[in-house]
Amino acid sequence: MKLRSETRERRPKWHLLYYVLAALVTLTICGSLYLNHSVREIYQASVAVNQEWAQRHSRLLELAQLAQDVNAPGNDVLDDHDADKEQGLRDAALAKFETALVQLRQELVSKPATPEVRSLISSLYEINSAMDTMTSTTDLIFVYVKNGQPEEAARYNATMDRAFGQVLDEIAKSEAVIRGIQSDNFQSQLGGAGRLGRFEYLIGSVIFVVVILVVLYGHRMQKVMAAAEAERLRLIAALKESEATAQSRLHDAIESMNGGFVLYDGEDRLVMCNENYRKMYPETRDLNVTGTRFEDLIRADVARGQVPEAAGREEQWLAERVRAHLSDQSTSEQQLGDGRWILVSERRTGEGGVVGIRTDISERKQTELQLQKTLDELNAATERLARQERLSMLGQVAGTVSHELRNPLSAIRNSMALVRQLTVGKAMGVERAIERVDRNVNRCARIIDDILDFTRVRELTREPIKLDAWLGETLAEIAVPPSVSVRREFLFDDEVALDRERFRQIVVNLVDNAAQALADAGWTPTDDRQRTIIVRTEAAGPHVRLSVTDNGPGIPQDRLPKIFEPLFTTKSFGVGLGLPTVRQIVEQHGGTIDVESTVDVGTVFTIWLPRQAAPAAGAEPAAQAQVA
Ligand SMILES: Nc1ncnc2c1ncn2[C@@H]1O[C@H](COP(=O)(O)OP(=O)(O)OP(=O)(O)O)[C@@H](O)[C@H]1O
Ligand SMILES: [Mg+2]
Repeated sequence: MKLRSETRERRPKWHLLYYVLAALVTLTICGSLYLNHSVREIYQASVAVNQEWAQRHSRLLELAQLAQDVNAPGNDVLDDHDADKEQGLRDAALAKFETALVQLRQELVSKPATPEVRSLISSLYEINSAMDTMTSTTDLIFVYVKNGQPEEAARYNATMDRAFGQVLDEIAKSEAVIRGIQSDNFQSQLGGAGRLGRFEYLIGSVIFVVVILVVLYGHRMQKVMAAAEAERLRLIAALKESEATAQSRLHDAIESMNGGFVLYDGEDRLVMCNENYRKMYPETRDLNVTGTRFEDLIRADVARGQVPEAAGREEQWLAERVRAHLSDQSTSEQQLGDGRWILVSERRTGEGGVVGIRTDISERKQTELQLQKTLDELNAATERLARQERLSMLGQVAGTVSHELRNPLSAIRNSMALVRQLTVGKAMGVERAIERVDRNVNRCARIIDDILDFTRVRELTREPIKLDAWLGETLAEIAVPPSVSVRREFLFDDEVALDRERFRQIVVNLVDNAAQALADAGWTPTDDRQRTIIVRTEAAGPHVRLSVTDNGPGIPQDRLPKIFEPLFTTKSFGVGLGLPTVRQIVEQHGGTIDVESTVDVGTVFTIWLPRQAAPAAGAEPAAQAQVA
């Protein structure tokens, strides 16, 4: 607003000169046209008047000729004496003369009665009068010739010629009058032209003034244009300077940001990024230049190993990343190849591009991961504590129950021994019943032993054992139903530090479970498969992998999480301590166990044992197991 009001204040008045110039030019043109018109009128009038008087002059010459014709018979008759003929010729010439004279006079009478016209008319009267004198003298000459008096006639000849000379004099006078009139006309037209000449000077002066004003105007215009051009250049320079200042401020601000800054245009091409951003992605630093397409950049990130999370599913990761990038707003955490964590925040700009901020959250992430680890450890400890509580409770119950049951069982066993003694060889038919009682008593005793075994804390006694050989012997001792075959795939052939007795329990429990599953009367295979158990050993990096696989009924998915819980069993004769005991012993050996199972396909239990047992390896998991 201020600029506009200043412009208005400073607007110069001299531009009004332009209108003055226009008015003067218009005036000059009109004047020139008027001048031209006037000159043409004068010329036309001059030509017309001149032509008119030239015609009259030629008529006068014609009159002189006719006067000559009237005069000639008067002279000729003196030679040929034929008065009648010559009189006839004279009369004919006279008639023509008079007709021409009358026409000329009538024409002059019809004109305005200027002194010149009046003078001419009176001249015509004089001509006529002289002609009358000449005609009457000629009549006398004809009469004397007719009367045969030629001498008398010749006397009048001189009179006739004098009259003829008078006629010619009068005609000459009229001619002079006409020349005078023509001259006057010419002078008056010259006078008019002279007056117009003054007007010409006026127009010339105006043109001169116009030229001067145009020169002044042009000069002024040139100055104004030069000033305007200088102002324009100054403004452009100021604009460029302020633009450069703004750019440098923006650049400075972007470079001073804590995090990485990146901007993409509407076509998703890189516009700019700061040094922090370039440092965050050192592997693709060469591509962080204006014009690089976002997709090309992240493809290079993936190809150069900057995005570990994309490994193995590159195309899917790229598609997801582009989708998030093009959404209105997105935030994600990204782990880089060198382990750093970056928080990626992106947002659409008004022009359809994307602005992104990258924050290095490695420290926070480290803390978070540490926290998560601590939390996991806490959960595991809590879980262990709960298990410990449950097991200690179980231990107490088992201790009490086994103590309470052992004595009655001993009493039953002793009593039954006595009964066997008393009935042996007497064919009383109680042998089978006594056998059944013995078997069940033994089973009860075994269950009590199992419970006590599981709950009792026992130190491991580990010694290096050739795994494959030992496993072969152990398997040979385990009885499996005849319908089930056991296949050995021993590929390890090395020593492992094991507690023979405890580890034997693992093998027995797993093979028993597999055999029981394969021989389960309630399961019928969907095909005619050979019911097989595969026991396999192999080296796996720093571990030994021992797996027991069967192609039995499998374990439903919802049951899988429960099978390692103490006392969980699906068997009518089972206690549910087999797998918990297996896990306990595996962990005591510093190993882990996992299970994979598919219904009607089979089950695989895999044990991972460290190949090199650390000195404390046996004690520490054992302690954990004790706690558990
Ligand atoms: N190889 C297997 N195939 C199918 N189910 C299995 C297999 N191994 C274990 N199970 C399931 O896991 C449950 C728990 O097994 P676990 O060995 O702990 O107890 P159990 O065999 O039932 O009794 P026990 O204490 O006599 O071993 C079993 O009841 C069974 O349902
Ligand atoms: Mg079992």
